[in-house]
Amino acid sequence: HIMKEFSGISSLEMELTNKLGIKGCIIVPGNADESEWVKSELGKMGAEQLSKIVQPKQTISVTGGTTIASVAEALPENLKNKELLFVPARGGIGADLQYQANSLCQIMAKKTAGDYMVLYVPDQVTKELYHSFINDSSIREVLLKIKSSDVVIHGIGDAITMAKRRNTSQFEMDILLEQQAVAEAFGYYFDENGKEVNKVNTIGLQLEDLQHIPHIIAIAGGVSKAKAIKAYMKIAPKNTILVTDESAAKLILKG
Ligand code: F6P
Repeated sequence: HIMKEFSGISSLEMELTNKLGIKGCIIVPGNADESEWVKSELGKMGAEQLSKIVQPKQTISVTGGTTIASVAEALPENLKNKELLFVPARGGIGADLQYQANSLCQIMAKKTAGDYMVLYVPDQVTKELYHSFINDSSIREVLLKIKSSDVVIHGIGDAITMAKRRNTSQFEMDILLEQQAVAEAFGYYFDENGKEVNKVNTIGLQLEDLQHIPHIIAIAGGVSKAKAIKAYMKIAPKNTILVTDESAAKLILKG
């Protein structure tokens, strides 16, 4: 903490918390776009927040992505044997198995000697498939756990980067471009005012479910995500804690 005050990060954290109107901000030095270690630091701080918050036997829902993967990597020893349950917040994201919420839940459970559940549902499903999925009893069980989870840990991405990663159809890509989508979180795309402009049709946590979840930890950093973070934070629940880096924080505060 002395180091933080020395580097001015503490006051930056306060300023950002006030600007975004959320519960708190943790800022790590650097720019996650440029160096891998910054992403590792984001992961460490995210993991630390979780260990401060979580109680034995609680359920934690997690999203996918490389940033949340670094949280999984950093989960501390003191979370062991708390009998935590990790559930994927949303259905998978196509090909990138390594960074799917399902895989991250498995890693997190292994690291904490806890438990996990999976959701084997494609990220983008048709309306008909969607309804048959949510009526399946084993899927319903996972969905109930997700919706009643105690903590959510999630990433935030740049809209177009995420749409490309998901092999989004040209039709939907055009909607995102036309509506000037800048942010993505939980499969929802937002414009710079935080207005929802499109949504991936997958099962799992819906934006409105967040209102019932006591603890929310958002983790995202890097210059390339500043706009996205700022936009998403306009609609983020007030109990959100943001873990970000200095480069994104400074850009958010500038605008
Ligand atoms: O696909 C899951 C997800 O959490 C998205 O909601 C988010 O935009 C993205 O991953 C962030 O990924 P990364 O941490 O790799 O930038």
